Amino acid sequence: MTTGALLAVDLVLAVLTAAGWLGGGAAAAVRRRPLALALAAFALLATLARAITIVALARAGWWFAAEKVLVAAPLSLAAVAVAGPRLLPVPGDVRSVAVPLLFAGYATSSALLVTVLHGYPASVGAGLLAVAGTVTATAVSWRALGARPSRAISRVALVVAVGALVTGVGLTVVPAAPVVHHGHGYREARTTDEPTRRFTLTAGTATVSVSGRDVAAWAFDAQVPGPELTATVGDVVEVTLRNRNIGRGVTLHWHGYDVPNSQDGVPGVTQAAVLPGQEFVYRFRADQVGTYWYHTHSVSDVGVRMGLYGVLVVRPGPVAGLDVTIPVHTLAGRPLPAPRTERVEAGTPVRLRLINTDSTTHRYALAGTAFRVAAIDGADLRGPTSLVDTAVLIPAGGRYDLVFPAPETPMALFVDGRAVYSTGPVSTPPGDWPVLDPLGYGVASAVPWPRFDRTFTLVLDRGLDLHDMLPRYAHTVNGAADPDIPPQVVRLGDVVRFTIVNRSAIVHPWHLHGHHVLVLSRDRRPAAGSPLWLDSFDVRPGEVWEVAFRADNPGVWANHCHNLAHADAGMTTHLMYS
Ligand code: C2O
Ligand code: CU
Repeated sequence: MTTGALLAVDLVLAVLTAAGWLGGGAAAAVRRRPLALALAAFALLATLARAITIVALARAGWWFAAEKVLVAAPLSLAAVAVAGPRLLPVPGDVRSVAVPLLFAGYATSSALLVTVLHGYPASVGAGLLAVAGTVTATAVSWRALGARPSRAISRVALVVAVGALVTGVGLTVVPAAPVVHHGHGYREARTTDEPTRRFTLTAGTATVSVSGRDVAAWAFDAQVPGPELTATVGDVVEVTLRNRNIGRGVTLHWHGYDVPNSQDGVPGVTQAAVLPGQEFVYRFRADQVGTYWYHTHSVSDVGVRMGLYGVLVVRPGPVAGLDVTIPVHTLAGRPLPAPRTERVEAGTPVRLRLINTDSTTHRYALAGTAFRVAAIDGADLRGPTSLVDTAVLIPAGGRYDLVFPAPETPMALFVDGRAVYSTGPVSTPPGDWPVLDPLGYGVASAVPWPRFDRTFTLVLDRGLDLHDMLPRYAHTVNGAADPDIPPQVVRLGDVVRFTIVNRSAIVHPWHLHGHHVLVLSRDRRPAAGSPLWLDSFDVRPGEVWEVAFRADNPGVWANHCHNLAHADAGMTTHLMYS
């Protein structure tokens, strides 16, 4: 079973255990004897099963099990210890076991709340809050059910509950100091005499037509996607960004392009957002060949979804053959681009540049031809082999370049089952094809560094967070949400390793600005194919990725989930050079 599946099973068992105890307690309170006993027996069984999932999760990695071992296990044991003996033998009046069963229910429910609302890392504060909740709820039930706890017991309960509550709140709510200073001494780019490719992009609201319907968009030059920017390696790219009327501001972020920090386009970090009527000039040298894209980074979730994005392609020289960019996007619920068919002479070298500009993964399948994956995230792969009837999954923000000689008979590219580009009708559309695992594709070579100067672990989860004093269910990194996540501080020249752990139930496409990272391993299995230098990769539920890079591009860099709604809801951290 994958760790992601284990996490799900464990969660279901936790819910069933709590429901079994609570239901049993309630049934006992109203003297429904058989029901009460059945539910209690069920809760006991679920507790046993849960012992297995917790141990399995701990073996998959402490990150997945910490609060379960430290909070849920002791509370479950207390539940069994208190409720179990009262059922052997079953007393004549089943109502007399109602409070112990309810206690077991409160104990397991509060442990469940710790997992769902607090998560990783386990904390003493959260544990104490769970204890306080259990004791308080039990005391209330005790009173309500008319039983009269002795004075001494009531006092002890009161002291434990209040003590645990006060300490728990104290330990949990003490705010962590926000650490990233969003510096405002933005640096200027230098002017140069090199061959310069100049572009102007004007951001504004626009009405665009998608599959025959007019939709309201935010667009560069009134088109979605914005104009395709192309350059030849060595050119200087100079882009003037103007904002006509996007009230919340715009910027240009060169996704996957490792530009100097001052050109990275992250408002509040590398520049101020460009407001209506203002402009900003970006300038960088196109020294990386490959497929990239640009997008606004100001209220990026809304801005990109509404259409503020476009393609950036840097070629090594003049195009030989057919070179097609296919940026996939969902605009107002409708898929882009519109399907396109063109005749291509057999034998023509074709390169399809697939770009996922959405916030979730897309599945691409090429029917009617064998192909190779020549590059991922702009970086060429080593020794890619020929593939046939194989699908590829591209994470949010990611790019795959597929190459092949045009076949005699038609070929077609399908995205999530929809044909977007073809040379004619294909006879066999893609079916339930296997998916390429890039970690085992192509020819391996040794990791270029003997050791790592810094290591950081990022544990991705969900949890309750206070944001401007308003509680929100945030997407968290190491139990904190932006802007309270400590930055990863490195020195120029360091070889840095990140371990990225997903203990949540959803995919997090990870994206570090300003650097490509080399994939070392996934779930402890070393990458065995071509070196993979990625800027966007899906960390699926239960997965653990190890990646590394050399810190060679000074500045403050966003390091975030590229499901941009998650990034906005807390899952944004920063890499910072000291
Ligand atoms: Cu494509 Cu910070 O993003
Ligand atoms: Cu995410």
